[in-house]
Amino acid sequence: MSNLFITKPVHAEPHVVAGEEVELARSLDWRHLIMLGIGAVIGAGIFVITGTAAAEHAGPAIILSFVFAGLACAFAALSYAELSAMIPVSGSAYSYTYSTLGESAAWFVGWSLVLEYLFAASTVAVGWAGYTLSFLDQFGMHLPSVLREAPFTFKHDALVVTGAWFNLPAVLIIGAIAMLCYRGIKESATVNAVIVAMKVLVVLAVVIFGAHYVTPANWHPFIPANEGPGIYGWSGVFRGASIVFFAYIGFDAVSTAAQEVKNPQRDMPIGILGSLFICTLLYILMAAVLTGMLPYKLLDTAEPVATALAAHPSLNWLKTLAELAAIAGLSTVILVMMMGQPRIFFAMAHDGLMPKVLGKVHPKYKTPHRATIIVAIIAAVMAALLPISLLGDVVSMGTLVAFATVSAGVLILRYTQPELKRSFRVPLAHVICPLGVLCCLGLIYIMPVRNWLLLLGWTVIGFIVYFSYGYKHSKLRKALKS
Ligand code: ALA
Repeated sequence: MSNLFITKPVHAEPHVVAGEEVELARSLDWRHLIMLGIGAVIGAGIFVITGTAAAEHAGPAIILSFVFAGLACAFAALSYAELSAMIPVSGSAYSYTYSTLGESAAWFVGWSLVLEYLFAASTVAVGWAGYTLSFLDQFGMHLPSVLREAPFTFKHDALVVTGAWFNLPAVLIIGAIAMLCYRGIKESATVNAVIVAMKVLVVLAVVIFGAHYVTPANWHPFIPANEGPGIYGWSGVFRGASIVFFAYIGFDAVSTAAQEVKNPQRDMPIGILGSLFICTLLYILMAAVLTGMLPYKLLDTAEPVATALAAHPSLNWLKTLAELAAIAGLSTVILVMMMGQPRIFFAMAHDGLMPKVLGKVHPKYKTPHRATIIVAIIAAVMAALLPISLLGDVVSMGTLVAFATVSAGVLILRYTQPELKRSFRVPLAHVICPLGVLCCLGLIYIMPVRNWLLLLGWTVIGFIVYFSYGYKHSKLRKALKS
């Protein structure tokens, strides 16, 4: 039994796969990391989900929802900053947990991270397809309806056949991004940086130009009177926070690049905390402007930013730009998620918990190329065949599990290995880390029961896989036995 909790020593060793030492290329600095963080964070959350969360749950107080969700993420981000600078390996929360809570907990976290990265890539690819198709439709370019969406969807919790074959644009964007990830992390980071610059400029333009059209009366009442559990009032604000939490997911993906950073001790904290700070600021401003431009009930659309801009004809020029920024912006979310997942599999394969093929590195491009191809195929099949509502539900759950474990991990390591050199320390760790865990558990608690069941089902499948493969092949366990 105690075997399940064996912990791995905290130091990065060379990765050895099938007797061969393999290394990823160290080519990134803190600027790339901040851009990667923003690339992964700003996406479907602000461009798609915010409108519904404001209209149906929080009203103008969606601004507060963003503040609360941002605070929960800030606690987790501080912990990620400490651990990723101390243990700069590609496995992120999975590797930190291996060194703190032991192998089985690490497996649980690594398996939950699949929900975050792999499922987020598919979810956002479906969102990207929706945005792109409606944009092309405006110009009379229509894709045949059988290729526009998944063959079935959920309507009022019932399975409905759509008549479509599969979602072709979602498959195409995943394929294109996979090729970039295969080619190299520097290339991926450069393309990401260009698109992120454009995305941030457009978000700033919406905030600055939109501010001129804000009617303060739209912010009254700021917290609409409660109409039932999670519908307006304070319970609505917190339900809103659990929904817009999705918008913050991704800053942690920066930590999966730790093994490819030139100076991780300095650059990881800057990259993680810097990108989260910038995104939080942009989100709060954006939420304030959107709810000020239009009565919140009118924001209940799949394109709330375009909806708010369309209500003011003189901002029509910005609407097209915002749509283009959303399309480009969603693609960087897919990119960073698809960079993150193979690197976590890479770390798990190196530990023997996943098959060796996932730990291979391309001889020339120095990327985990096999893992990238496998991740792309799974993500594309899911995006082609599954509806967005099912995919999106599980992403936040998996992420919250990882955040809670990372916050706990910082405190545990402070006691178990106080002597380790920490280039960044969470301030007031005895307060911040427990608060980080509590906020994540609180957000999990607010989620609908359906999400808990999905997480439970996923975890059960995970442990079946662990006991039939990882447990038997664990390199650490084998080393202990010999
Ligand atoms: N935070 C990412 C998004 O909003 C997942 O698309």
